[in-house]
Amino acid sequence: MTRYIVTGGAGFIGSMLVRALLERGDAQVGVIDNFLSGREANLEEVRDRIEVHRADIRRFAEIAPLVRSADTVFHLAAIPSVPRSIADPVPSHETNIDGTFNVLRACADGGVRRVFYAASSSAYGDTEVLPKVETMTPRPKSPYALQKLVGEYYASVFASCFALETVSVRYFNVYGPRQDPSSPYSGVISVFMKALLEHRSPTIHGDGEQSRDLTYVEDVAELTLKAAAAPGVSGRVFNGGNGGRYTLNQVWEMLQRIEGVEIPAIYGPLRAGDVRHSQADTTAAVRDLGHAPRFSLEEGLKRTLDWYRKTRNP
Ligand code: UD1
Repeated sequence: MTRYIVTGGAGFIGSMLVRALLERGDAQVGVIDNFLSGREANLEEVRDRIEVHRADIRRFAEIAPLVRSADTVFHLAAIPSVPRSIADPVPSHETNIDGTFNVLRACADGGVRRVFYAASSSAYGDTEVLPKVETMTPRPKSPYALQKLVGEYYASVFASCFALETVSVRYFNVYGPRQDPSSPYSGVISVFMKALLEHRSPTIHGDGEQSRDLTYVEDVAELTLKAAAAPGVSGRVFNGGNGGRYTLNQVWEMLQRIEGVEIPAIYGPLRAGDVRHSQADTTAAVRDLGHAPRFSLEEGLKRTLDWYRKTRNP
């Protein structure tokens, strides 16, 4: 049995990754989560097949014994959201930077084979060229973007200085089942889904012409497993997007069409720290990790919508 640990394993992406690991059959899976945004319910039907540790990555002593001798540690625990990092920067700084340092240090000390680090496309900021390539100089525009970038740099430095294998993948706007729509900092797709099912207008920040490379959570989990297993990539950073780009107006249009409704969006002021356009160059991930996303935006949105519908009316 191979032992895997997923930090943030009760979260939206982490809980999907846990399921993908369990599908392999040979996996012993442990979750580390402080349940700040993670939820027991996200792990419901797999709960008896995994170990769940309520622990906080901000406390080294809590997590060090839990990661010791694991084969791979998937480090997904974070306080996400650009606007949250502006409204309340201290918790996100402590979790995303200090917490990441603790995880890397605990893994180096504990003889872990490899750490996978969930990095963020926000690192690029408003670089002029699209799609964004890993070789571009990052231009973080918000505390969150900077924090995730520091984590990446730390991961690379642990690979070169502490003989710990690390690999970072910059996730590009992930969406799908179990993304929580209930917080003011929720990802836009989950917010759109909720509005659609309640037949309400969503609020779009700005003119809605900003664009994102929206990536379905199952594709992200698949790529994460590939990055954790790929030989010869230690210390490197890869884009983890789909390679496409849709404006918010296009996405809201598509959702209305799927649902057969007409609900005009409301437009509000631009959000501080917001990036205008985001799109991944997937060349390196395809070539070196075997990245092969399976879900078109339409297919991903349909599956996600089905999930929200079912969980609203179980
Ligand atoms: C950013 C990162 C992403 C990261 C995420 C973590 C970029 C390009 N992407 O996502 O990699 O995983 O942070 O939180 O930086 N919006 C609305 N109405 C709403 C909610 C959002 O119009 O009700 C708009 C936002 O202003 C933004 C877009 O939708 O333009 C996406 O927002 P959001 O889902 O919060 O993600 P990003 O900030 O793009």
